[in-house]
Amino acid sequence: MRVVLGVAGGIAAYKAALVLRLLTEAGHQVTVVPTEAALHFVGVATWEALSGAPVSTQVWDDIPSVRHVRLGQEADLVLVAPATADLMARAAHGLADDLLTTTLLATHAPVVLAPAMHTEMWLHPATVANVALLRERGVTVIEPACGRLTGTDSGPGRLPEPEAIVHEALTVAAGAAARGPVDASGPQPDHLDLAGRHVVVSAGGTREPLDPVRFLGNRSSGKQGYAVAQEAARRGARVTLICANVALPVPAGCDVVPVESALDLHREMNAIVARGGVDVIVMTAAVADFRPAHYAEQKIKKTHGEGDESAPVVELVRNPDILAGLVQDRGVAGTPYIVGFAAETGDETGDVLSHARAKLTRKGCDLLVANKVGISQTFGQDTSTVHLLWPYSEETRTIGPTDKSRIAIAIWDAVVADLP
Ligand code: CTP
Repeated sequence: MRVVLGVAGGIAAYKAALVLRLLTEAGHQVTVVPTEAALHFVGVATWEALSGAPVSTQVWDDIPSVRHVRLGQEADLVLVAPATADLMARAAHGLADDLLTTTLLATHAPVVLAPAMHTEMWLHPATVANVALLRERGVTVIEPACGRLTGTDSGPGRLPEPEAIVHEALTVAAGAAARGPVDASGPQPDHLDLAGRHVVVSAGGTREPLDPVRFLGNRSSGKQGYAVAQEAARRGARVTLICANVALPVPAGCDVVPVESALDLHREMNAIVARGGVDVIVMTAAVADFRPAHYAEQKIKKTHGEGDESAPVVELVRNPDILAGLVQDRGVAGTPYIVGFAAETGDETGDVLSHARAKLTRKGCDLLVANKVGISQTFGQDTSTVHLLWPYSEETRTIGPTDKSRIAIAIWDAVVADLP
């Protein structure tokens, strides 16, 4: 992929060198476009050495190739890290006074900005308005991290870690590639077809504590749930992401509620729904059906006495079925719209689809997304194959094998088609 890495003039510019490294190591062809101010922090030699390509800040270099327009036109992704308050203000207002802002104006590629600045600047109404305007136009502005800033102060405004920036940018680029070329006039109306909706997504896999060091868990990585949350945010929804033990960077624009066990997830989900205003729930989380009946306050020891070779027997009790409960509680009102997932292996009593159809009837949700799972199938992978099933139709729609971001798009297309 051809990536333009813009670097604006902030102390966090040094972290952009790591972003560049991660991108080139992943095989991407990166052109670095620093601003003049960025070169006060990290010089041309560093960018040229790390990218293996000439670097310029100006629109006046390489005139015959019309570089100031060509860079943006040819890019598959434009990522700016760090994006300062000044850079975002210039981008929001369409200024084109250097090579980076010209590139931002000339590109059809997805644009991802990773802001870094002092908390006061990030929270200033001017910056807040510029960020809102950029997001409205389809630019992804990653939420800055919270923590120590340049001086002794701390708060929101820190540049997120390079790994998180690269992950976010590549996910946005993959989603854009899956959707096909975008019109130059900005985001299409259907890009914001979840605007005004509140969406709650559960992701990851629950852990059922046995003692202070052990738990019963499952292999869910949270990748599909995060892709579903990210796509909803991109379409303009307010997204609450309940995440159970997920080791991935949080998608931009989502409110995160971390949980550990099925009971935690049950409690948090019910609390959110009870506050009202939820339009759609997507239960991608792999919820444990059983938990240990007793939690040992102290670590369970291997032996209890000389020559004791016995192993403990762990008694299990059932967890609530959160999805079925949500469907039951909404009653005849029929809102929120509820999407269930089905992890199936198939067995001697039926294949994946027949188990999924039975599960859809049992759970009573509006849409079921079924996939075949196995130790090296679906769990932790970037791609998957899913089947969409509806209660009102015998039809089954198969998506994939494809990226989980593309599966997320198909799921939201199906949900939006059903929403009132
Ligand atoms: N689910 C839930 N609460 C549980 C178990 C599952 O809300 N205690 C949800 C999952 O988030 C998923 C759907 O129910 O959306 C189906 O989960 P799955 O594990 O496939 O099915 P189970 O209901 O656990 O049934 P089985 O294990 O018998 O296949």
